[in-house]
Amino acid sequence: MAILHLTRKEHFNAAHRLWNPNWSEEKNYATFGICANPHFHGHNFDLYVTVKGTPNPETGCVIDLKILKVIIRKTVIDELDHKNLNLDVPWLSHCIPSIENIAIAAWDRIAVELPEGVQLHKITLWETINNFVEYYGE
Ligand code: NI
Repeated sequence: MAILHLTRKEHFNAAHRLWNPNWSEEKNYATFGICANPHFHGHNFDLYVTVKGTPNPETGCVIDLKILKVIIRKTVIDELDHKNLNLDVPWLSHCIPSIENIAIAAWDRIAVELPEGVQLHKITLWETINNFVEYYGE
């Protein structure tokens, strides 16, 4: 049976700051530069969620894209959009909200919501036009 990868794109705006509270101010600025600025900074994030599966013979689809949209919005987008990722999101409070850590946390929240027969394959998170991260759950 054919296995396909299907991707849904979603978008959110949010603020964050890269800062390790266990480090000195000097080490934080040396490591994170302007990303450590105390009053946070914002990004227009693009989140791509790629699932893997076989088309259902009755629908021709791996997953109903409306269902995938609702899962992504409920578990991730509605939680992050227009929020401060350092202060407002309980499921990111254990980590520095880098795109790497956001992608890992998003994976954990989306994977468990997918219907039977549909697997999460990849989370891609764009932070700027130059920078993005890909996570395959490993
Ligand atoms: Ni940033």
